[in-house]
Amino acid sequence: MSTTQPLIIRTVAGLRDQIAAWRREGARIGLIPTLGALHEGHLTLVRRALAAGERAVVSIFVNPLQFGPNEDFGAYPRREAEDVAKLAEVGGHLVWAPTVEEMYPAGFASHVAVTGLTDGLDGPFRPGHFQGVATVVTKLLMQVLPDHAYFGEKDYQQLQVVTRMVRDLDIPTRIVAVPTVREADGLALSSRNLYLSAVERQAAAELPRVMRETAAAVLAGEVPFARLLARATDRLSAAGFGPIDYVSICDAVTLVPVEDLSRPARLFVAARLGRTRLIDNIPIEPAAR
Ligand code: PAJ
Repeated sequence: MSTTQPLIIRTVAGLRDQIAAWRREGARIGLIPTLGALHEGHLTLVRRALAAGERAVVSIFVNPLQFGPNEDFGAYPRREAEDVAKLAEVGGHLVWAPTVEEMYPAGFASHVAVTGLTDGLDGPFRPGHFQGVATVVTKLLMQVLPDHAYFGEKDYQQLQVVTRMVRDLDIPTRIVAVPTVREADGLALSSRNLYLSAVERQAAAELPRVMRETAAAVLAGEVPFARLLARATDRLSAAGFGPIDYVSICDAVTLVPVEDLSRPARLFVAARLGRTRLIDNIPIEPAAR
């Protein structure tokens, strides 16, 4: 297979020069923000940008602002050479890989906060996380000024936060949502799956199974939701998950918990398996993915 090496750029000035050169040629730009340790989920976002005829700019930046003091910032997998090789194969055009000092120079003091959408689900379990995400995504959008930015439904709350933020702040980029890419056994691809032992990896398949069956029970008309969610929680505990942060059915737009299906809803789960925190969500609709 013929591969073209993507450009690797580490300074804002260098990035702006390259983007400006492409704009002069009339090119359209797609941004795919990532923390690196790229897998098929990320590469699917890149392919979407390429399919739209865009220059695919992939940011690889492990953003310290979005990790809590007891989270895995230090341990997060960093494997830039492998990531670049994968992007070369897919046809990604540019890797934007700034240092922490380039992204947050001394004296950095500005932050972006999105209220409401961050009150529930992961919000209370990861204080400061969504502010860190909103701040870095704002910077990435300002640095690249893309036509489209691609986000996975895997991190559905993040997707809603970014969509709200772009609308609220009049950022002239369209946010494109991409469905979750899964392993054959249903586990959503995640860089953090690398932390799972072989035994944990097998047990992890229970998560999507319980989620699919819970969504099916909801669609079959079983109520109340609270009883279904308690049963799902028990099954996850029995499979070795714990603590289980939440198993929740929420409005697909506002993310507020719901008791019926009068509006589009999704099932959300966050649970630890050993030292790995897994999150997942699926739509509750007849053709549930
Ligand atoms: P990261 O976890 O690396 O994910 C980067 C993008 O890939 C996100 O939009 C995420 O939703 C998407 N993604 C991850 N796994 C996926 C899967 N299995 N299927 C489809 N898409 C998937 O999310 C972040 O990084 C960061 O918070 C970031 C937005 C880069 C800000 O730092």
